[in-house]
Amino acid sequence: MFIDTHCHLSKDDYDDIDLVIKENRESGIDKIIVSCCDKSSIIEGLSLSSKYNDLYLTIGYHPSEASSIQKEDILNLEEVIKNTSKVVGIGEIGLDYHYGKEDIDQQKFLFREQLHLAEKLSLPVVIHSRDATMDTINILKEFPNVKGDIHCFSGSVETALTYISMGYKLGIGGVVTFKNSNLFKVIEAVGIDNIILETDSPYLTPEPYRGRKNSSKYIPYIAKRVAEILNMSVDEVALTTSNSAINLFDLK
Ligand code: NI
Repeated sequence: MFIDTHCHLSKDDYDDIDLVIKENRESGIDKIIVSCCDKSSIIEGLSLSSKYNDLYLTIGYHPSEASSIQKEDILNLEEVIKNTSKVVGIGEIGLDYHYGKEDIDQQKFLFREQLHLAEKLSLPVVIHSRDATMDTINILKEFPNVKGDIHCFSGSVETALTYISMGYKLGIGGVVTFKNSNLFKVIEAVGIDNIILETDSPYLTPEPYRGRKNSSKYIPYIAKRVAEILNMSVDEVALTTSNSAINLFDLK
């Protein structure tokens, strides 16, 4: 049993979503969590989640949306969450300074507003943090009751251990299979209990399919690499990470 805790699933990226879901099931992927992080993907995700019972959602506004999101959009998010049982978390939310810091105040405002919402609704968060580690950690520390996962973690061992001490899991994806990746050091240091698996599809396809379009069906290749690093069986990786995901997101 595998769970893809973070993917994107839009008809902009896939011609035949029915086929994607069918291939996932055939590859042993029991549940997927689709990250919907702008207005149009939230609408699309809600429609998908009513069609497929093994598909869950996290919804929230990505930091790249910071300059366009108003307070009423966040109120609207709350309404949407209250009206569907398929939303299992808020995300991906966070800070992204990769393209500059012009909207840093708006990003921080949006991030804090959504962390408040997560706290109010007792939902976990999925964190997107790019070139913004210290600010992300400091803001998350303002919300000690909120838990979640650090999506596509790619930082140092020290940063990993800081997040874990704050109660977060690390989302590990296809990057771990890349030859130049140092993520194995992080995985060795934190152990199987602190990671969950994700594809972030359609991006970051694991080896040996790097370069193709990603999808949840490639999760077993990520699990295989984690199993090699930790010297355990793929089944054990699948079971432990799936249980962590079920607990974190309260999946039924
Ligand atoms: Ni993502």
